[in-house]
Amino acid sequence: MIQATTLNWPNLIEFGAGKIKTLKDHLENSKRAFILVDPPIKPMVESLLNEISRTGVEFKISTEVIPEPPINEIKKFFKPVNEFAPDTVVGIGGGSAMDMAKIIAVLFDGKQSVEDVIGIGNVSNRDVKLITSSTTSGTGSEVTPIAVLTDTDAKLKKGIVSPFLVPDVAIIDPELSMTLPAPITAATGMDAMTHCIEAYTNKHAHPIIDNLAIEGIRLIASSLERACNNGNDLEARTALALGSLYGGMCLGPVNTAAVHALAYPLGGEFKISHGVANSVLLPFVMQFNYISSAKKYANVAKACGVKDTGDVEQMASLAVKKVREISNSCKIPSSIKELGIPENAITEMAKAAMKVTRLLDNNPREITLSDAGEIYRNAYDGVIK
Ligand SMILES: [Fe+2]
Repeated sequence: MIQATTLNWPNLIEFGAGKIKTLKDHLENSKRAFILVDPPIKPMVESLLNEISRTGVEFKISTEVIPEPPINEIKKFFKPVNEFAPDTVVGIGGGSAMDMAKIIAVLFDGKQSVEDVIGIGNVSNRDVKLITSSTTSGTGSEVTPIAVLTDTDAKLKKGIVSPFLVPDVAIIDPELSMTLPAPITAATGMDAMTHCIEAYTNKHAHPIIDNLAIEGIRLIASSLERACNNGNDLEARTALALGSLYGGMCLGPVNTAAVHALAYPLGGEFKISHGVANSVLLPFVMQFNYISSAKKYANVAKACGVKDTGDVEQMASLAVKKVREISNSCKIPSSIKELGIPENAITEMAKAAMKVTRLLDNNPREITLSDAGEIYRNAYDGVIK
């Protein structure tokens, strides 16, 4: 029996090389636009913004994008943006730029606080148009109802989930990702891979999303190393951007699971980037999970290019090794030890991860506190058994 589901994606998705130029069309009815743009991208969109400003749209542009945005830093935007009174908010860049734009769009008017809206379904409204443009292939934030921020006091990442965070327009232009350095391409690409794998193997998986997820896995597995070795390979960049878009489209309806939950303390406490944390943990969570749905993990192996042996259990275990091989091929660290995190932090990290119930509830196999500790210990050594 196919379960009921709700699909809430942007009204309009512009995908392909050169598509950033459509921003002009999407600002046609805007009078005042607040634009948050990642600093390395600003020179690439400068002439386009100048051209748009000649059509009469007034801009306030900020490049103050803070990675893994802390709650207190986001709050600093609300007053000046409220004074500017935009009718449109645009976020151009990686996940942090887009997440900040999404949060600013729903909170700058001061009717709700950040604390009011953390969690699921707590945002009451959005009065302005929201446009996101992704320039990294990873987060998928351009199409999701999710924004993630850092609670520096609790040393934890926190999520805001609301239909009001789904942008009106998402623009994915792989040309904007061509100057992205290889380590960031690798980390964001493995984040997208994690989105697809965690959605496909999810306890709440859905056939519509399965199709996107498995194709996303195939696209990312076949293009990530190429994009890391040659950033100007537009074919690889485009395949990666599409895989990442598919990963993002999985996040609203199905979402991620234990890899993301266990990655949160690495980001919140030790400032490890989201993609690297996911990449290091992914094989070890897969190793723990695959007995719960070996057939699905076998399909992950096939989508990653592993030759089918016909033995489902064997293919599922090969999926774990193949995913590790892909992250190794783009030089991402392969253990928690390599990230410089002390082994004695594992107990506290496991306790913190167990609080991320909104994601742990999606995991195909139930994870206890001692399981979380065991997964961290395996990932600390970085040896796949
Ligand atoms: Fe992610």
